[in-house]
Amino acid sequence: MTKLVIPGKQSLRGNIKISGSKNAAVAVLAASLISGKKVCVDNLPDITDVRTLLEILQYMGATVRRRGRNTVEICTANVKKTHAPPYELVKKLRASSYFMGSLLARYGKAEVPVPGGCELGPRPIDQHIKGFTALGAETEVEHGLVKLYASNLQGAHIYMDVISVGATINLMLAACTAEGRTVLENVAKEPEVVDVANFLNAMGASIRGAGTDIIRVDGVDRFHNATHSIIPDRIEAGTFLLGAAATGGEVCLREVIPQHLDAAMAKLKEAGVEVCDSEDTIWVNGNAETLPVDIKTFPYPGFPTDLQPMIMVLLTRAHGTSVITENIFEGRFNHVDELKRMGANIKVEGRTAVIDGGSTLSGAPVNATDLRAGAALLLAGLTAEGETVLSGVEHVYRGYEYLEEKISQLGISFKWHRENGKKQIKGLGNQ
Ligand code: EPZ
Repeated sequence: MTKLVIPGKQSLRGNIKISGSKNAAVAVLAASLISGKKVCVDNLPDITDVRTLLEILQYMGATVRRRGRNTVEICTANVKKTHAPPYELVKKLRASSYFMGSLLARYGKAEVPVPGGCELGPRPIDQHIKGFTALGAETEVEHGLVKLYASNLQGAHIYMDVISVGATINLMLAACTAEGRTVLENVAKEPEVVDVANFLNAMGASIRGAGTDIIRVDGVDRFHNATHSIIPDRIEAGTFLLGAAATGGEVCLREVIPQHLDAAMAKLKEAGVEVCDSEDTIWVNGNAETLPVDIKTFPYPGFPTDLQPMIMVLLTRAHGTSVITENIFEGRFNHVDELKRMGANIKVEGRTAVIDGGSTLSGAPVNATDLRAGAALLLAGLTAEGETVLSGVEHVYRGYEYLEEKISQLGISFKWHRENGKKQIKGLGNQ
């Protein structure tokens, strides 16, 4: 097992380019099989989740050609399988659930393992199933498989009981070929939802209203080749913004869409951090004293749950008490015990964490249990006295491209600790 050795008391300084969005990319790749045509996807992040998705598409019969590190050409004309790959391959990947919508849209039939993904508490798919049923699909969940069948998908008016990114995207996929109009109400407005809708429209779909509360999809029966460039990753950008603030550093992020980070930038300013942005750049200076702030996570455009673990690290250095309320996932405090092992003063009750800041963390061996918890512990290690040894790093590589290259561009280099002495892949982006 390989562990990352993080030097303490380091500040992130410099400028980096932000990669394509993980959560948009995985959905766009799954959606590509609806058309049965050729697509060229650019600005695709080279991360494990994307590699797994491409492997799944190839398993299903698609041809995948890489054109450089961040561009792929995919042809799904020969995809014949209506069942997704074995559980072993998809269990790590929540986005495998998007094969429900895309296979249903293309073949009226899908068999997909119940999705896995980060352990953030219960992650039901009732809204996905409710929507597929409303579109006329018979649904069954047995032996760990979601089985969907529809002789003829019919447009429907679907009101989502919960604002769900996954269900919004999945139903948008299925509705692309449903007869007539589908109206999806109370939907997720995340930029990733808009990016998938733009990709589907580029292939010939007819979707309007993505990014608002109501999405209208008019079913079509013909698609064409398409080219698409994935939006920048707002969560990667937010991680580096919060990292610069927590380490007292100064960072400039390029090729980012600042509007996608309005909530995070507003909270940083409230915490006394200097932040400014221009067309496709954000600059942050974390030198000033950090003030305590209260955070409530909400669906977009609210403060993103995916940045909650990283802002908690910043608030451990604030002079005073901050309260974080996690409204999206009830089990998203996996990082708290590890931060407490580093000396943080945090009390959790249900979905609320109270952080008594002002203490300097101390380096310790810690373990990442999911992607964003891993990123937060990495930042915590940079702020701490002494070295931190982070295990579970494979989680981090699921969502951060060229991580070591970018961190070294920001003036810091890591060491690796190998337990079995065997040579280990240092990390996808850094091969
Ligand atoms: C997406 O997950 C992201 N994953 C998550 O990012 C992100 O945290 C989440 O949206 C919220 O922004 C991907 O895009 C691959 P949801 P998803 O459906 O789609 C409940 C990361 O770190 N719900 O919007 O699974 C659900 O339990 C990952 O990059 C139902 O009750 O999230 C949760 O409480 C982690 N029934 C809430 O809605 C349903 O049918 C939001 O979940 C579906 C969801």
